[in-house]
Amino acid sequence: MRKFGLIGKKLGHSFSKKYFSEKFENENIHGCAYELYELPDIKRLKKLLLDHPALEGLNVTIPYKEEVLPFLDEIDEKARRIGAVNVVRKLANGTLKGYNSDYYGFRRSLENWLGERRPGKALILGTGGASKAVCVALEDMDIAVQFVSRKASETCLTYEQLKESEDIFKQHRLIVNTTPLGMHPHLDSFPDLPYEWINEHFFMYDLVYNPETTAFMKKGAKQGACAKNGLEMLVLQAEKSWEIWNDASGFLSKPE
Ligand SMILES: NC(=O)c1ccc[n+]([C@@H]2O[C@H](COP(=O)([O-])OP(=O)(O)OC[C@H]3O[C@@H](n4cnc5c(N)ncnc54)[C@H](OP(=O)(O)O)[C@@H]3O)[C@@H](O)[C@H]2O)c1
Repeated sequence: MRKFGLIGKKLGHSFSKKYFSEKFENENIHGCAYELYELPDIKRLKKLLLDHPALEGLNVTIPYKEEVLPFLDEIDEKARRIGAVNVVRKLANGTLKGYNSDYYGFRRSLENWLGERRPGKALILGTGGASKAVCVALEDMDIAVQFVSRKASETCLTYEQLKESEDIFKQHRLIVNTTPLGMHPHLDSFPDLPYEWINEHFFMYDLVYNPETTAFMKKGAKQGACAKNGLEMLVLQAEKSWEIWNDASGFLSKPE
């Protein structure tokens, strides 16, 4: 039996377990199992791997995407630039290599969505783990980024500062929500933006995928903007995980 799984601190509802269990069944992939492994501390990773020698691949979620780095033998170049790992592969020699498939999922879904359209600069709302993969992906697509945070800093604008200049706001026609605002069950919450300045030239990308249409997306669409949720990103990052775990060479020749 080949084993795969998800590590995190609290793993109530997991998209990944359902996704991979259905994938194994629907695609007649035999001899594979995907389980949830709650770890009270990332230091338990080594013991987990000793207890489950058939474990070949892991997804990593909150709060270990950054904490897992010192426990890995190798880190893929993109994941190193991002500073976060959400996929771990145990190589044939027993060493652990980390990757970031959020980068891939976000980038590919954004490229699919935008096509030939160019959004100028981008605002990234929130400065958590997911925002880092989004930032590196946008940089690699030559889209300049501006972080927006609740806290003022050298690298971030606050939501209040964003409301000070309509001209500056309108230079950023791609707005990526990487905050959990609007996620089920908090359906009525949304980032504090000057929505009245949004028009049909804007693109509102929400990493949140439940509900299908978030308040952030609705408010943008009401102004004529295009809006997209994070479901395609989620599926693409899961498929990329599977590709990483099954890559015969032990590393991907094309990590993006
Ligand atoms: N679709 C996908 O494939 C995918 C992949 C990864 C994550 N996600 C989703 O993306 C979201 C963020 O994930 P994450 O791991 O980056 O979460 P996180 O580490 O908790 O970070 C979220 C950031 O959002 C901001 N934030 C948090 N609460 C807020 C509030 N009440 N008001 C305004 N800003 C708030 C914070 O930034 P500041 O302190 O700077 O304001 C925080 O650092 C989650 O909803 C997650 O489910 C989706």
